[in-house]
Amino acid sequence: MGASNTAPDRPILAVDGLSVSYGHVQALRNASITIGSGEIVVLLGANGAGKTTLMESILGIHTPHSGSISFDGTDITRVPADRNVRSGISLVPEGRGIFSSMTVLDNLLLGAHHNLQESPARLDRVFHWFPVLRERQQQMAGTLSGGERRMLAIGRALMSRPRLILIDEPSIGLAPKIVNDIFAIIADLNAEGYAILLSEQNAYKALKTSNRGYVLETGRVVLEGASAELLDDPGIKAAYVGA
Ligand SMILES: Nc1ncnc2c1ncn2[C@@H]1O[C@H](COP(=O)(O)OP(=O)(O)OP(=O)(O)O)[C@@H](O)[C@H]1O
Ligand SMILES: [Mg+2]
Repeated sequence: MGASNTAPDRPILAVDGLSVSYGHVQALRNASITIGSGEIVVLLGANGAGKTTLMESILGIHTPHSGSISFDGTDITRVPADRNVRSGISLVPEGRGIFSSMTVLDNLLLGAHHNLQESPARLDRVFHWFPVLRERQQQMAGTLSGGERRMLAIGRALMSRPRLILIDEPSIGLAPKIVNDIFAIIADLNAEGYAILLSEQNAYKALKTSNRGYVLETGRVVLEGASAELLDDPGIKAAYVGA
C-alpha cells in the first residue's frame, strides 16, 4: 500500500464533475475523483451505481456530456481509448475480454499489440508476477480456472506498460483464498509504482488494501475518505461490509 491517505496534491488522474448518459439513462452525475500516482483507490457501490461506466469513461470508451478528465496533468476528456492505452491507462474489464479459444500467450500479446517490440520484456515481467501464466502459456485460455483467468486479465493489462490500472471488480465470483491472492498481487503492483483504481461491491478486503475510497450511488459520489475511516463508517459497514 502507498503512503498517502488524504487526497493527493498532484494526482495522476483527476475526474472533475463528470456526467455520462446512455440515451436517457444518466449513469454518472457530476462525479469527481482523484488518484495519486502512488495510490490504490477503491470505488464502492451497488449494482448499477456507475462503477463500470466511470472506469470505461476514464479509458475513453464513453463520451461525457459534461465534466473533465485529466491524466498526468493532460486533459484527456475526449481522447479515445486506444490513445489513452498508449499513454499509460489500462482497464481490466469485469469478467470479459479474455479470448477462450486463444492461448494464454496470444491473449497476453494482444495487450501489447501497439508495442510488439517491447513485448518480450513485458512478458517476462508478467510471468514474474504470475508464474502460473508462464506454465500455461500454450494452453487455451478457456481451460484456465476462474482465478487464473483473472490473473490473465490483469497480466494482459500490464502488457501495455500502464501507469494507471483500472480493475473492475477483481474479486467477483472468486473463492476467498483466490480473492486474497488477487488482492496481494494488487498491493504488490502498487508497491512497484502502479497507481490503481479498483471497483468492488465487497468492501472489506478492498478497503483494507486501498488508501482512499469513494462511494457511488446512482451515479453520484455520496461519500469519500481514507479507507481506514470508511471501514469504520456505520453506513458503509451496513451497506457493503456486512458487519
Ligand atoms: N450499455 C448501456 N446501455 C444503457 N444503460 C446502461 C448501459 N450500461 C450501463 N447502463 C446503466 O448505467 C447505470 C450504471 O451502470 P454501471 O454498469 O456503470 O454500474 P456498476 O456500478 O458497474 O454496476 P455493477 O456492480 O452491476 O457492475 C445503470 O443504471 C445501468 O443500467
Ligand atoms: Mg460494473
